[in-house]
Amino acid sequence: MTRIFVTHKIPDEGIKLLKKRKSIKLDIYEKDRQIPRRELLRRAKGADIILSLLTEKIDGQVMDSAGSQLKMISNYAVGFDNIDLAAAKDRKIIVSNTPSDQVNESVAEHAIALIFGLSHRISESDDFTKAGKYKGWNPNLLIGSNVIGKTLGIIGAGRIGEMIIRRMHDGFGVNIIYNNREPKPELEKKYKARYRSKMQLLKEADFVSLHVPLLDSTRHLISIKELKSMKKTAFLINTSRGPVVDEKALVSALQSKQIAGAGLDVYEHEPKIASALKKMSNVILTPHTASATIEARRDMSRIAALNILAFLDSKKIPNQVKL
Ligand code: DGY
Repeated sequence: MTRIFVTHKIPDEGIKLLKKRKSIKLDIYEKDRQIPRRELLRRAKGADIILSLLTEKIDGQVMDSAGSQLKMISNYAVGFDNIDLAAAKDRKIIVSNTPSDQVNESVAEHAIALIFGLSHRISESDDFTKAGKYKGWNPNLLIGSNVIGKTLGIIGAGRIGEMIIRRMHDGFGVNIIYNNREPKPELEKKYKARYRSKMQLLKEADFVSLHVPLLDSTRHLISIKELKSMKKTAFLINTSRGPVVDEKALVSALQSKQIAGAGLDVYEHEPKIASALKKMSNVILTPHTASATIEARRDMSRIAALNILAFLDSKKIPNQVKL
């Protein structure tokens, strides 16, 4: 029997796949909220595999509490910064994640929605209208700016970054500049994208959208100096991981009007959000829901299960994280 502990209810697709196997015993945390740490440590005991969410810190303590039979952590997320990879490597535990086109599309669409939401002041306009403040057409009311012809700076031109580049260039006539570990000639050819150093990109872009994983090298990638070099009319979009942006520095930059606004799906100390951000009308906040589409969530569930089944069948794990 293989015992799998699932730390949170997830869509049925993957669960059904796992349930089909007679040799699997599933234990699913039944509540639709984050499992308390103590319960995580207790319920992990004896698990051969843990299917975890990005909200659970899976460190050496959890691995040891599970026991030496723990062989795999299947993370239900693209990002895996919640897992201590060094601890997994020491214990020879395999780690997998759930990248998929549907997830990437969802995050790309969400980032684009934030770009348009900010430039057309959608959230402010919605608040204004629902508050009964609309008293007739006014040429000076809630003036935003067109997106066409503007410059979008993508930091991290991986799969999500490229999806945004394609749509914004082909669909909305936006100029693309990008920063990446290395230049990508195909992006330059297909979308006339131009490579820039991070600091140069920040100086030129009207929208800066972040698409990097959270690593030691990307923590506070955007801080005081970076925000200072952005245009006063520019917007910052973050759908990657909260700690990539120094949230305190962002609050000051917004308060002192160093930048025009921000669209944020992730926060430095999630689920806490700097209270100043919640009061700013030029900021759109979403609760880490960039990948919350039915298509993406189903895919994530299916992929998390398929990673497990491949491991149990001693096949190549489709999305094994390199340790
Ligand atoms: C991921 O999969 O890493 C996303 O952040 C979840 O929404």
